[in-house]
Amino acid sequence: MPYKVGVFVGSLSKQSINRRLARALFNLAKGDLELEEIPIGNLPLYNRDFDSDYPPEGRALKEAIAKVDALMFVTPEYNRSIPGALKNAIDWGSRPWGTNAFAHKPSACIGTSPGKIGTAVAQQHLRSILSFVNSPELAQPEAYIQFTDGLITEDGVVTDDSTAEFLRSWLRGFEEFICKVTSVNRPRVTA
Ligand code: FNR
Repeated sequence: MPYKVGVFVGSLSKQSINRRLARALFNLAKGDLELEEIPIGNLPLYNRDFDSDYPPEGRALKEAIAKVDALMFVTPEYNRSIPGALKNAIDWGSRPWGTNAFAHKPSACIGTSPGKIGTAVAQQHLRSILSFVNSPELAQPEAYIQFTDGLITEDGVVTDDSTAEFLRSWLRGFEEFICKVTSVNRPRVTA
C-alpha cells in the first residue's frame, strides 16, 4: 500500500513554477507514493483569537494533515524565506496549543526558482520551522531545482532526463524515510 503524502504548494500564483514541479512529482511518484494536495489559498490570516472557535478552513487543514502518513512542501523562495501563505498555513496547522498537527509527521521539502541556488535559503528557514513543530525531516537528499525555460511543462512533464532521474531518486529517498519514521514513531494511517 503506497504511503499517503499531503502536498503543500507554497505559491498561490496561477503561473507557478513550483506548482509545475509539484505536478511533475505527482507524475513521477505514481504507484509508489499517493500524493494529494492540501490547499492553503483559502485560509484567513491566522491569529490566536481563532483558537477558541477554529473556523472550517482551519479544521479542514488539520484534518487533511491527520489523514496522511507524511507531508511534502514544494515551495518558492520569497526574499530568502518561504512565502507568507505557506507560513500562515503552518501556523494554522500547529494550533490551538496542544493540538499541533505536524508532530511526528515525516516531511520533506523541495523547491524551484530561476536562481542558481534554487530555493536553498527558503528551505533552510522551512527546516527551522518544521523542527519547531516537531516534524521529522528528510535530511538527504536535498533538492534545490534551478528552473530553466521549459524544464517542466505546464502539465508536469520533466523535459530533462537527468532532472527526472534526480526527482525519482529524491522520491525514493523520501519513501524510505517515511518507512523508517512510521515504523518507529507512529502507526500508519489506515482510514
Ligand atoms: C522572488 N523570487 C526569488 N527568487 C529567489 O531565488 N530568491 C528570492 O529570495 C526571491 N524572492 C522573491 C520575492 C518575491 C516577492 C517574488 C514574487 C519573487 C523569484 C521567484 O523565485 C520566482 O518569482 C518564482 O517564479 C516564484 O515561484 P512560483 O510562484 O512561480 O512558484
